[in-house]
Amino acid sequence: MRNRRAALAAMATAASLALTLTACGQDSEGGSKEDKGDAKGGTIGIAMPTKSSERWIADGKNVKKNLESKGYKTRLVYGEDDPDQQVSQIENLITQGVKALIVAAIDNKSLNNVLQQAKDADIPVISYDRLILGTKNVDYYASFDNEKVGELQGTYILDKLGLKDGSKKGPFNIELFAGSNDDNNTKYFFQGAMNVLKPYMDKGDLVVRSRQTSLNQVTTLRWDGGTAQKRMDDILTSAYKRERVDAVLSPYDGISIGILSALKSDDYGSKNKPLPVLTGQDAEIASVKSIAADQQTQTVYKDTRKLAEVASKMVDAVLNGKKPEVNDTKTYDNGAKVVPSYLLDPVSVDKSNYREILVDSGYYAEGDLK
Ligand code: GAL
Repeated sequence: MRNRRAALAAMATAASLALTLTACGQDSEGGSKEDKGDAKGGTIGIAMPTKSSERWIADGKNVKKNLESKGYKTRLVYGEDDPDQQVSQIENLITQGVKALIVAAIDNKSLNNVLQQAKDADIPVISYDRLILGTKNVDYYASFDNEKVGELQGTYILDKLGLKDGSKKGPFNIELFAGSNDDNNTKYFFQGAMNVLKPYMDKGDLVVRSRQTSLNQVTTLRWDGGTAQKRMDDILTSAYKRERVDAVLSPYDGISIGILSALKSDDYGSKNKPLPVLTGQDAEIASVKSIAADQQTQTVYKDTRKLAEVASKMVDAVLNGKKPEVNDTKTYDNGAKVVPSYLLDPVSVDKSNYREILVDSGYYAEGDLK
């Protein structure tokens, strides 16, 4: 069905294709009305997962800017967290004759067919931030050290509770949240956090009153804050009658904001009921403001400017017949091959260092955080 659609689309003229794209709600920012391949290196297709999160908007802009500075044209599309939409967007990019694809997958297992089409059309594929699984047709992976993200979150919790330096003993109550089960990063984040937290759970210094401790019990489909809020509500109602939750492991700022709403509805943050230590990831503006206001406690900053640069350099190298720089050739086995990767370093951010890390580096302007 998809192949037939792709074949039909291939026969379309550039003009009618442009109309099709508009009808599909595709975003063609940065591409000229008709891509005639006259840019130095032709047009690069960029498929991002959703505009509902600030970070992906920044990723899209940064990748586009980087590629354009190298002389490429770009077509940037957002799949709005719908795996089928992302597949047809990538099909359209292939039909349009993009020279390479940069893809941040929505569902890491849904792209096998469309990436076979890319392979058949000799289009190299860079997996962006999230590893695409189950296909050989992924050339390189640009991401952060995802296990370290979880380790930073777990270590932050231990530090804040005083367990790390032994200044407090516990037991402390903790609840665990993980990301979307169709995102390969989820298990790395969770594993990283568990590397650090599990020994304390085993000793009884950390207690999960809900008893929901395995990854499949704590995932949050599509990283949705509302889903996390509902789960936190349920946990507070069922497992915390008189007791108080002291820490919540959250893998992502959007989820942290949902958890925070649930906590506040249960009177946390009032005089006699302090908010728990609450982690996050992505340093999204709402969360940085929340950290400055002593609500969310921590986030993990991943400089999307650097990630965009790594991915763009990979594309440029591959299209010029060179080997892109990688720094990991072991960790990211996608089930069909070990994908050569370049992994960047994530940084833990809280109230004590957010200005230095986020404002002094120019990632945000002071005014963004007002
Ligand atoms: C992950 C990504 C995180 C966060 C999350 C939700 O794949 O690595 O940084 O953005 O998706 O969008």
